[in-house]
Amino acid sequence: MPDPAPLAVGHAPGKFILCGEHAVVYGRPAIAAPLFQLQAQAVVYPDRECLVVAVDIDRWVRVAAAPADDPFARVVRLVCAELERPLPPWRIEVRSEIPIASGLGSGAAIATATARGLLAAFGAALPVERLSALVYEVEKLHHGTPSGIDNTVVVYGRPVWFVRGQALEPFVPGATLHLLIGDTGIASPTRLVVGDVRRGWEADHGRYEALFDGVDAIVTRARTCIEAGDVMALGKLLDQNQALLDEMGVSSPELDRLVTAARGAGALGAKLSGGGRGGNMIALVAPGSEETVREALLAAGAKRVFGAEMAGEAG
Ligand code: MEV
Repeated sequence: MPDPAPLAVGHAPGKFILCGEHAVVYGRPAIAAPLFQLQAQAVVYPDRECLVVAVDIDRWVRVAAAPADDPFARVVRLVCAELERPLPPWRIEVRSEIPIASGLGSGAAIATATARGLLAAFGAALPVERLSALVYEVEKLHHGTPSGIDNTVVVYGRPVWFVRGQALEPFVPGATLHLLIGDTGIASPTRLVVGDVRRGWEADHGRYEALFDGVDAIVTRARTCIEAGDVMALGKLLDQNQALLDEMGVSSPELDRLVTAARGAGALGAKLSGGGRGGNMIALVAPGSEETVREALLAAGAKRVFGAEMAGEAG
């Protein structure tokens, strides 16, 4: 028998961090944007009980029986609690193009798409800040002590200047930024890298606080450059951010190789993006050098490379 017609569909984009990762966990600012090229999708069908099916990894989660720390079940329970509704007899099929544990917000995107699918099937809506807070609760299962930047960018779906615990500030680039994202192909759970940075910070507060202050200064200057459309200066700041991330111990030989290759091929700046140790790096490119940098990244071992933009005022 063919599947019955879906009740509703939810979508959410991935995200990339331009600068400020890790320091953002310690109250410093970071800049990030949605990655619309990669999406998560949740399709809701009628069924006999409440199920989440993670199609890509062939996982079936019976929500009523799942443990409290199962992220697929958690988002469903949170939405139902928010709406004061019992678990519905629906099957939510989740698919994602966003690689897992690669710094591109896969966990937040899957939770957001699932919540949106469910809300639509219930015929309900939540204010955007409430949905973001709900996805943050799921993020805690993935990350331990997340800053909240992933759920914010993914749910709001626009570039953000993010400081933990503060209201979002509108942030519009003065010119569209052209970026390439290079994937090392190495899965690196953010939770583990964030945990290592925390151990470093606990062992040597002074050194890590100075590194975080250095990132703060870079990100603050990066904002001015982005708003002014000064991509040359922005590129140099991304390089400086990479140097500080390296000192924090979150880069890796594979990331270093891709960053060096991008710079050598004419990128204006390059750095890791997200948790580090593996996952993805990002290169700021002038539109004319995009192909050269893409080829250099692939030749240096990138498993795949895709273009991204941070849209400017006119974009
Ligand atoms: C993860 O996308 C970014 C980190 O700064 C962690 C966080 O902000 O929760 C590494």
